[in-house]
Amino acid sequence: MAFPESFLQELKMRNDITETVSSYVSLKRRGRNMVGLCPFHGEKTPSFNVYTENGSFYCFGCGVGGDVITFIMKIENLDYVDAVKLLAQRAGMEVPENSYDDSMNKLRSRIFEANREAARFYYSTLLSPKGASGLEYLHNRQLSDRTIRHFGLGFADDDWTSLCTHLRGKGFKDSEITAANLGVKRRNGNGIYDRFTNRVMFPIIDLRGNVIAFGGRIMTDEKPKYLNTSDTPVFKKSANLFSLNNAKNSGNRTLILCEGYMDVISVCQAGFTNAVATLGTALTVEQAVLMKRYADEVIICYDADEAGQKATARAIPILRNAGLLIRVLTVPRGKDPDEFIKSNGKDGPAAFRALIDKSANDVEYRLNKLKQQYNTETTDGKIAYLEEAAKVISGISSPLERDVYISKISNETGVEKSSFNQQFKNIFKRSNREAAKKQMNKIQADLSGRSDKINSDHYKKPRSSSAEEALVVFLINNPDLAPEISDGVKPEQFQNSLMKRYYEYMLGRIERGLDPLNNVTADFTNDEASKLYQLLSQSIPAASTKEAMREYINVINEESKKLTAENAASLSDAEIQAYLDEIRKNKQ
Ligand code: GTP
Ligand code: MN
Repeated sequence: MAFPESFLQELKMRNDITETVSSYVSLKRRGRNMVGLCPFHGEKTPSFNVYTENGSFYCFGCGVGGDVITFIMKIENLDYVDAVKLLAQRAGMEVPENSYDDSMNKLRSRIFEANREAARFYYSTLLSPKGASGLEYLHNRQLSDRTIRHFGLGFADDDWTSLCTHLRGKGFKDSEITAANLGVKRRNGNGIYDRFTNRVMFPIIDLRGNVIAFGGRIMTDEKPKYLNTSDTPVFKKSANLFSLNNAKNSGNRTLILCEGYMDVISVCQAGFTNAVATLGTALTVEQAVLMKRYADEVIICYDADEAGQKATARAIPILRNAGLLIRVLTVPRGKDPDEFIKSNGKDGPAAFRALIDKSANDVEYRLNKLKQQYNTETTDGKIAYLEEAAKVISGISSPLERDVYISKISNETGVEKSSFNQQFKNIFKRSNREAAKKQMNKIQADLSGRSDKINSDHYKKPRSSSAEEALVVFLINNPDLAPEISDGVKPEQFQNSLMKRYYEYMLGRIERGLDPLNNVTADFTNDEASKLYQLLSQSIPAASTKEAMREYINVINEESKKLTAENAASLSDAEIQAYLDEIRKNKQ
């Protein structure tokens, strides 16, 4: 079950794909399509295509595609139902009530409720005698009671069943408790036990105020130091940030990006409420795009150790490609922000403020790093430094900004700006060419299906798959020919399992008088829908003639009759005889 077809049709009509995308991505016309820089992966040359005709988009760089609903799901980080609601709201349409079979929706809201109840339970445990060790731990880490309350920190005791028992008492089913990853099934199948024990707990709260997950820290040196909720129907680790709910209300469009929970809390307690952290993973593109909605600038504030510096180097291009300005804050003497603030005692906040003010932008940060690596007192060192510096500068897309750094470096090194400029131009050209080549290779790999995980049958059966893919596209574009097509090829003859599903699905919809594409977003996974839109976006006019259609049908028939050794083994003698007769008949 889903939203009524007529509702979805009107929704899509009223939310024109080009207009909708344009409010997030700057698009230019290229032929019949609109193109722009893909908002879902970093790129310098546009490979993000919007097709007004069939209301779809597809990025040849990262393979993401879909309709206007998919686009909103991805860019606003919403699930299907919420994306539909948002589009309806924008178009001033009423969402039909109860039309969505919301078993998944119900589960999600039960998980939210269970999480909220768990957060309350952990908090009250922290303040009870059972939580004394946890409270002492947090106090030792110099968190005030106000901070503890503000972040809703808590404690999971070591009973192994207290939370599960509590939640059952509140009417939650075991299946809901495990779906929330608050409890885990016992191996022997007898009941469930608490996921988190003997840890101080950090609730993770989304932008609408829902508790979506937890992080738990052990109070000793045991491993793992932090344990997080696994991904659940309401939580995707790689798409959320700790404390973004607080930071978005901080009133300025700068975020401080830290490595961990404790850094965020410390920095926040010191008065900088705009701090966030990734949840124990490297920064993702999704997180960068999410930050861009609430900020124009990010101050990277990772640990001063080597791992932190590596993570900084990785985060810079991701943030830059999301359109964020970047500064890099360097914490002195191998500390993390939390330790730094504490080591300055009462002056912690002021000392941290000074670090923020001193933090350089990302280009300066990288140039400084290079300067430390090379001895620019020697000629060789200077040349090597200039080479590397030119590479850094070539990554800047604004010519004005590039010029600022070229002037700066020429001042520093005493090398004439004109000669550095020349060298720089050579490198700039080279690296641009390399980037373009890389992107082409990736596109070609995608097109040939070599890196095609979703449509893996394509590679195994290229001939039949190509014909099947083309026929599915043809069918979608020519629903009036469905009877002729389905007479020519039965779904069972398809060898590519994904194409077979598309084919059956589209035939079924057309038969019922429905628009073939109207509900793809709901009926297929995101990756499968992307694949379909990729195929649609690649189809060329020559592939959509009736002659071409007959050819696809022929190829599929031929291929489906080929007897593989594997098949033969499972056929009866009579079936093999019938098959041989068939081949002979065709040869005459
Ligand atoms: P404290 O030791 O409590 O001050 O934490 P920290 O933030 O200084 O820890 P660290 O720099 O070691 O790690 C940074 C972040 O990485 C943490 O906040 C966690 O999100 C994550 N992390 C660290 N250790 C683990 C672990 O054992 N498991 C998981 N899943 N994440 C971890
Ligand atoms: Mn720390």
